Amino acid sequence: MSVWKCPVCDAPMQRRDRCWSCAKGHSFDMAKSGYVNLLPANRKHTKNPGDNAVMMRARKSFLDKGHYAPLRDALERAVLRYGRPGGVLLDAGCGEGYYTAGIFDTLEQARLPMQIYGVDISKSAADAAAKRCPEGHFSVGSVYHLPVSDQCCDVLMTIFAPYCGTEFHRVLKKNGVMLMVIPGQQHLWGLKEAIYDVPYPNAVRDYALEGFELIQAEYVDSWLKLSEPEDIQNLFQMTPYYYKTGREEHARLAGLKSLSTQISFEILQYRVTKSLI
Ligand SMILES: C[S@@+](CC[C@H](N)C(=O)[O-])C[C@H]1O[C@@H](n2cnc3c(N)ncnc32)[C@H](O)[C@@H]1O
Ligand SMILES: [Zn+2]
Repeated sequence: MSVWKCPVCDAPMQRRDRCWSCAKGHSFDMAKSGYVNLLPANRKHTKNPGDNAVMMRARKSFLDKGHYAPLRDALERAVLRYGRPGGVLLDAGCGEGYYTAGIFDTLEQARLPMQIYGVDISKSAADAAAKRCPEGHFSVGSVYHLPVSDQCCDVLMTIFAPYCGTEFHRVLKKNGVMLMVIPGQQHLWGLKEAIYDVPYPNAVRDYALEGFELIQAEYVDSWLKLSEPEDIQNLFQMTPYYYKTGREEHARLAGLKSLSTQISFEILQYRVTKSLI
């Protein structure tokens, strides 16, 4: 059965040449880079939903320098624990595919090849992810209405992306695993100190999620020393603080020659339990 399902009628889709279509004749052409747009126009709330090309470039350029490599390494180790050769891994809200591509490479090297899928609501993200990981399958789509068939995923990753428990539960196989990355309490504390007079730690999250059982919580803590103003700006643009602050805070950051900050992530590992309904 195909992993992509028709976003109009929910039927499975087949690929012929560079076109995906369902039995009812709804068809979707692949873009030059290889992604397919499975987000119906009536589910778009803005013309270009999700992260825009500027945000994407900032994140790509920051991540490409390896500043979040400790998180990527830890995620790769986690996927090796739960992956299954020939199985399906879905990155929901994959962004420009930094983690998706790293995981693809690690699984190949470990001779545990899986079919890698990524969905993001942003066209720029799906395009960049398809270019970064040509062996993967990427679509424009929403995590709130995934263009993915029921119970076809062995592993689902949700990394700093919106969460939709009912959809994630629907697409995961009975014994499937969800890896969720959220910021730790002290994540980017040094950046916040540079922006705000009184910084606050991130809120502590309740780990309980309906339909999922927490099997492991892993903490990744490291230090980041940025000595290029461009890296500081790129990091700032990747965070919500960039959009929540004004001219004064932007000027503070623009004046910084270097920045030292803690980075702190939680990798929450869940297994699917009972039905949600
Ligand atoms: C903070 S970024 C994280 C991207 C990637 N997981 C990473 O860590 O590099 C959040 C991503 O979620 C995407 N996004 C936002 N709303 C979405 C939705 N409803 N469905 C799918 N993706 C969405 C954005 O376009 C963006 O690429
Ligand atoms: Zn259809």
